[in-house]
Amino acid sequence: MASGMIKKAAVIGSGAMGHGIAELLAMYGYEVFMVDINDEILRNAKEKIKWSLGKFVEKRRIRQEDADATLARIGTTTSYEEAGKDVDVAIEAAPENMSLKKSIFAKLDQSTPMDAILASNTSTLSITEMGKATNRPDKVAGMHFFNPPHAMALVEVIKGEGTSPETINTLVELAKKLGKTPIIVRKDIRGFIVNRILGAVFLEAFWTFKRGEATKEGIDASIKYTGGFPMGWFELADFSGLDIAYDVGKILYETYGERFKPCSELIDPLIKEHKLGQKTGVGFYDWTKGRPRIPFNLLEEYDVDRSWAVAANEAAWLIGDDAASAEDIDTGMKLGTYWPQGPCEHADRTGLDVMANKLKGLHAKYNMELYRPCPLLEDYASKGWTGKKAGRGFYQ
Ligand SMILES: NC(=O)c1ccc[n+]([C@@H]2O[C@H](COP(=O)([O-])OP(=O)(O)OC[C@H]3O[C@@H](n4cnc5c(N)ncnc54)[C@H](O)[C@@H]3O)[C@@H](O)[C@H]2O)c1
Repeated sequence: MASGMIKKAAVIGSGAMGHGIAELLAMYGYEVFMVDINDEILRNAKEKIKWSLGKFVEKRRIRQEDADATLARIGTTTSYEEAGKDVDVAIEAAPENMSLKKSIFAKLDQSTPMDAILASNTSTLSITEMGKATNRPDKVAGMHFFNPPHAMALVEVIKGEGTSPETINTLVELAKKLGKTPIIVRKDIRGFIVNRILGAVFLEAFWTFKRGEATKEGIDASIKYTGGFPMGWFELADFSGLDIAYDVGKILYETYGERFKPCSELIDPLIKEHKLGQKTGVGFYDWTKGRPRIPFNLLEEYDVDRSWAVAANEAAWLIGDDAASAEDIDTGMKLGTYWPQGPCEHADRTGLDVMANKLKGLHAKYNMELYRPCPLLEDYASKGWTGKKAGRGFYQ
């Protein structure tokens, strides 16, 4: 199905992400049905959308009549049959649980027309497995929005093993029609692009802190004020939710092994005590009085190049696996987390040989797989493809 043919959508799950995705679709003229497990949740979700549209009107970004028309395009139901009967695309945004998602995909397979595309907003679970719960794996793909969907420019479009190129093209075009910049994850890898690279830099920060080499405030100050990132790694982990960082980290460890060895002594106690970051008021920092103050005077406590090195290394794993292009990786990190540069362009400027040597030094010192240079990085460095100065690195 071409994206121009998409007129009607269903969004399954009307929580933090689902109601935002439904609002976005409706703002761009699509008819949407939101599905959830009871009417009260759906009423709340619709109230949130109404409130959010009101804010757009207040800021004069849209007119009141546009807000009214947007709201009128959003229906709610607990019935998959009602929501699915003539949709062109369904986007699942239910809790991050594979057996639940599989049961939802099986239901969608029964309740939507056979040519409808079924997409999942999962942060890291297997698209292939969800596809297998249906009789149309070619029409099942990942469509990973960032939070909040109306504000964040990035969408990761993920190919499962059975996904057809046509399905990917349709979702890429749909993302563009929603005003987003899509990047393509060519293989069904865990963490996709953005969460996978964030997983690596988080671990480098957690282990550095755990080894007592720098304070969390010092790491965050260096990342923010020296590195030019919008938030330090501890601040960002708290901001996005430590439970999410924990779940993604666990899956990365299960899939990729020792390279993603979790810093359990640091994070497990916080999870156990339900200190999940901003949303619970406490995580690595106290958020009860607003955003934590990251002291400026610690801006040299941590070597930011260590974060860049593990990020470039993970990018090299993605490229070596033919899961993503350097361009899409850089776009993902800049639009998905507001990095000042992408890891590939940064490595090309710094020198891939410099990056590889940095990693080798860290690997020799700590004997951790996190720091072992990826074969592709070593290969490029040995061929003299060291980046900008050589005319070829991650980029030509
Ligand atoms: N929150 C984020 O920052 C974020 C960002 C990107 C992706 N995601 C992913 O999006 C998905 C949803 O996350 P969320 O944060 O919106 O979760 P959430 O808990 O806020 O919302 C999930 C909603 O799904 C509903 N639900 C549960 N079972 C259902 C069923 N059988 N049928 C229909 N609805 C059902 C719940 O009642 C709830 O309203 C997850 O896969 C998550 O990994 C989350």
